[in-house]
Amino acid sequence: MREILTAEQTKKIEDLLSQMTLEEKIGQMNQVSPSIVGGFTVPFEELIEMMTDGRISKEEFSKIMESAEQDYHEDEIRAGKVGSLMVQDPAAVNRLQHIAVEESRLGIPLIFGLDVIHGFRSVYPIAIAEAGSFDVDLFERTAAMAARESRASGVAWHFAPMLDVARDARWGRVSEGPGEDPYLGSVFARAKIRGLQGDRSSPDNYVAACLKHYICYGAVEAGRDYNTVSMAMHLFYNCYLKPFAAAVDEGAVTVMAAFNDLNGVPCTVNKFLLRNILKESLGFPGFVVSDANAIRECVVHGIAEDQADAGIKAAFAGMDMDMGTEIYAKHLKDAVESGKLPLEVVDEAARRILSVKMWLGLFDHPYVSEDLMKKYEVLPQEHIDLAREAAEKSIVVLKNEKNLLPLRKDAKISLVGTLADIPEEVVGAWSISWRKEDCVSIRQGMEAEFENVRYFPCGGPEGDVSYNEAVEAGEYGDVIVAVLGETIAMSGEASSKAEIALPGRQRELLECLLDTGKPVVLVLMNGRPVAIRWENEFMNAIVEAWHLGIRMGDAVAAVLSGKVNPEGKLSSSFPAASGQCPVYYNHMNTGRPGSKSKFTSRYLDCPPESLYPFGYGLSYTTYEYKDLMVAEASPEELEISVTVSNTGQRDGRETVQFYTQDVCASLVRPVKELKRFEKVPLKAGETKKVQVTLPKKELGFYDNDGVYRLEDGLFRFYAGGSSADCLQEELRLSFS
Ligand code: NOJ
Repeated sequence: MREILTAEQTKKIEDLLSQMTLEEKIGQMNQVSPSIVGGFTVPFEELIEMMTDGRISKEEFSKIMESAEQDYHEDEIRAGKVGSLMVQDPAAVNRLQHIAVEESRLGIPLIFGLDVIHGFRSVYPIAIAEAGSFDVDLFERTAAMAARESRASGVAWHFAPMLDVARDARWGRVSEGPGEDPYLGSVFARAKIRGLQGDRSSPDNYVAACLKHYICYGAVEAGRDYNTVSMAMHLFYNCYLKPFAAAVDEGAVTVMAAFNDLNGVPCTVNKFLLRNILKESLGFPGFVVSDANAIRECVVHGIAEDQADAGIKAAFAGMDMDMGTEIYAKHLKDAVESGKLPLEVVDEAARRILSVKMWLGLFDHPYVSEDLMKKYEVLPQEHIDLAREAAEKSIVVLKNEKNLLPLRKDAKISLVGTLADIPEEVVGAWSISWRKEDCVSIRQGMEAEFENVRYFPCGGPEGDVSYNEAVEAGEYGDVIVAVLGETIAMSGEASSKAEIALPGRQRELLECLLDTGKPVVLVLMNGRPVAIRWENEFMNAIVEAWHLGIRMGDAVAAVLSGKVNPEGKLSSSFPAASGQCPVYYNHMNTGRPGSKSKFTSRYLDCPPESLYPFGYGLSYTTYEYKDLMVAEASPEELEISVTVSNTGQRDGRETVQFYTQDVCASLVRPVKELKRFEKVPLKAGETKKVQVTLPKKELGFYDNDGVYRLEDGLFRFYAGGSSADCLQEELRLSFS
């Protein structure tokens, strides 16, 4: 196991443990949120149901919540029965921390955690979008900024990054992670850990990351949230585990277990996953927290008789902290005293949790200073600039017929779509601490960038459409920019969908806009790949703008005007139809690859391939690839190179992608796997040779027993600007 503490710190933790009662140790394993205890007349559960089924609106729900009475568990904190809380208000953080540090017997600080997924006060693009920037340095810088902002609020623990490989766009949570590819996911994972945890020069600069959701949550059956997962173990090791293993290797100090079961055992009580793989095989030194209420849900899963049984099973399996149920607090003492649970299990969990608190500097710096709290009252320019840079780099141009884009600054533009004019819609799922005054809507961005913009709401993902306004939009503009897609609430947790075409009456609206005879640029705001085969056929240009964070409006306008040459690529394939899901580029070989022939792996009503593949994205310039070469540079390493030219009129940045295929192996292998990528700036007319080194051992794979195999034989090598558009070479390799 990797050490995260110095010898002196380890000794302090052991001294502390030796003074702790059993109850105090279990207290460390207990995470609570402020409980809603009153202020309204119906039970809390029913209130949630009322909001879900529409009896009350989300706004009404939030209002009720604001006036609800909350219990912050002060007495339990004082008694040493709480280890962690989910709170974001710095005043509450300091108040509760004072109780823990000054009024509890041993003065152990609390660790405050929160869902800081893609930014805190400055909100950056949702992860599926940011991953498409393929900009490793950016991944790190946005995480580092989020760490500093949240630490100034006392939040020292982010429930991020989400590293679930996600290949089924029906799953609402695809928005929260870096997409479908395990290599891109691993690079993203490492960069996020460096950003969140890397700058330990002051406790104000770093937080504890939390890798989630361990594991295979992205593979829930039928894309339905919280559903079951059955998976062959070679896929588990070669794909789903990879980003987590990379992040542990980079030093991540906490992990959150997933809600789902894997091959019949819920991750919450899965000893093989938590102890054998994570703690023993990967040497993870930190602690594991359950997902919210997941220990209690093991009873509903039908894997535990009752709550006490669920608590014992989870603790046995290596679950160190209980999020939200207080089952550990209620039942573990009895379990230990009656001999059902060894004391060592509790000792180990408490040791791991205390170690992370020590690593975070909480023992010496438990509070947030007044100065620090005020530091981000007004968002510093540096933060705004980073939010804008991230947004610009994450935009993906999917179609640009006859170079309709970029638009002239003096073009008469009819801006259409309710989403364009709602600043709150730019932030995306899981944004908690943003302020409306920091958000720039597309309308605001467009009006600042272009000379002649007129706005026609026309309609959006919800509600009716106004045909009259659409006709007026056609009358005014030389070009129509239609901002359509999904509201924030349509992606994220508990937002799975069976149909992922544009929701509501947006297709009708687009038909109406096309009828005006004016060219239409479709700008998409959404949290998942959407099925837009029809739109691809009929729109003149399509720009995927996701939910890009607080500077979304500026970034979209800059790409539409050409001030910024787009460089984003897709981190997830876009299906042609909902029924194709899951669709992803690195699928397994079959004996009958889809073709025009009847008895092949195909659909009668839709091509087997995605509409837009992983790695795809257009620029306002063009790139040409030549001379792919693969050579054995040494007994251990290959050198792969390709020549890329900017053949257009504009400077740009191209993401050069290198893929491999193991042509024949003892197990069926993917048709293509991303191994490296390089982001290359190229001036108009410039040519560069791009070379990467690939250790030969990366050409191996895990079998179903978790044994890594490096097998001699033929390999294919690919390089290109998209997973579906590559040059190809072959090489026979022998590893012995
Ligand atoms: C449930 C979600 O699955 C998880 O991602 C989140 O971190 C926790 N709730 C805490 O809010």
